[in-house]
Amino acid sequence: MVELNRELFEKIVKVAQSRGFVFNSSSIYGGLRSSYDYGPLGSILKKNISEEWWKSLSSNPDINIYPIDTSIIQSSQVWKASGHLSEFSDPLVECKKCNTRLRSDMLNDLSCDCDFPEFTEPKNFNLMFSTNIGPTENEDSKVYLRPETAQGIFINFENVQRTMRAKLPFGIANIGKSFRNEITPGQFIFRTREFEQMEIEFFCKTEDSSKWFEYWKEKRMQWYHSLGISKDYLRFREHNESELAHYAKQTVDIEFLYPWGWGELEGIADRGKYDIEAHQNASGKDLTYFDTEDNLKIVPNVIEPAAGLTRTVFALLCASYKEDNVNNETRNFFSFNFNLAPVQIGILPLSKKDNLIKLANEINNMLLGKYRTEIDVTQSIGKRYRRQDEIGTPFCITVDFDSLEDGKVTIRDRDNMQQQRVSIDKLLKFFDKD
Ligand code: GAP
Repeated sequence: MVELNRELFEKIVKVAQSRGFVFNSSSIYGGLRSSYDYGPLGSILKKNISEEWWKSLSSNPDINIYPIDTSIIQSSQVWKASGHLSEFSDPLVECKKCNTRLRSDMLNDLSCDCDFPEFTEPKNFNLMFSTNIGPTENEDSKVYLRPETAQGIFINFENVQRTMRAKLPFGIANIGKSFRNEITPGQFIFRTREFEQMEIEFFCKTEDSSKWFEYWKEKRMQWYHSLGISKDYLRFREHNESELAHYAKQTVDIEFLYPWGWGELEGIADRGKYDIEAHQNASGKDLTYFDTEDNLKIVPNVIEPAAGLTRTVFALLCASYKEDNVNNETRNFFSFNFNLAPVQIGILPLSKKDNLIKLANEINNMLLGKYRTEIDVTQSIGKRYRRQDEIGTPFCITVDFDSLEDGKVTIRDRDNMQQQRVSIDKLLKFFDKD
């Protein structure tokens, strides 16, 4: 395990930015603070993680999970009923001299650039972004960008249950952008104002809620391990009563060891009946479930594993960043699992001679439909290996002049740099085992 620290954090950010994972947003205009765009490699990595998340839910025989894709702008009534309009805020203090605004609950030492700062009393600052729909701006046209994907699930609970004829226990999974006007965003893509979440609301009978809470704790932890994040980087942390969100009866965080220490990666909460009851009361609609076993209408209990997709990208970059020493030079690479790597196979013809390029293209065409490949022809072979290491490509295929004679290529393994000759007609079989 590489020990994470600030210096290492800066290296990871530098590779991520220089190699096309993440760009500063609006950079040609000087950037927009704490906003990021995902480049070609970052967007593939993010998509691969979200696909693994969905695969882990849809291919699990123990549970029944329905996907849903809900709008970012929902009726303001949703946020009133859910409690977000009144409760979703952070305590904000402001220095009266320089007007720096800070979250008073997150900092041990409140500080700004003033020698003798003078802070206001904390006041609650609502984290939701608002905008208006339609041409007029007034209280009736005011709407909010969703601060969590979860509410889209609760307001569709009855739609999904009825149309899918779903029986308890079952879950609904929603993935997409959420927006929070964070007072102190930062630490690269760890905390941003626009980010992506992957949330599951799992509906069950109240008497089964403890069992499902434990089930999800284990399942979600295993999922992070399956991404290749080592156990040393992960732990559970139970919320104490004062930390619990307004809707939660119990919450356990899956924490990750970030370069600056342990912090939240995912929250698993027992939300009880809070949300369904809140929307039922506010909308006046019957959102109960008819329990055919007991012949009565019930409001189900909800267990919520709430993960951050963009935060998982960051955790994976941190956990996968490795350095070793090769010929007295530091080599750095991301040790991404084969299924997650943005480029799985680099194809490197030894020279730009036409016959080598032609063979490299033929090999690429053979692998393309099945794997994410990249042909790289520029610079020395050593530099090209380093570049593929840096972006986390698990294998490189080198096409050399012998390949034209013996129909074999050299496969180099990113992690141990070992090389082996493999027949071109056995390549598909070779990668199949990964
Ligand atoms: N529905 C419950 C909920 O949203 P949360 O703990 O506020 O719970 C869940 O958010 C996850 O979303 C977090 O564990 C984190 O991974 C991610 N997340 C929350 N705020 C974020 C932000 N500002 N930037 C990036 N990710 C964030």
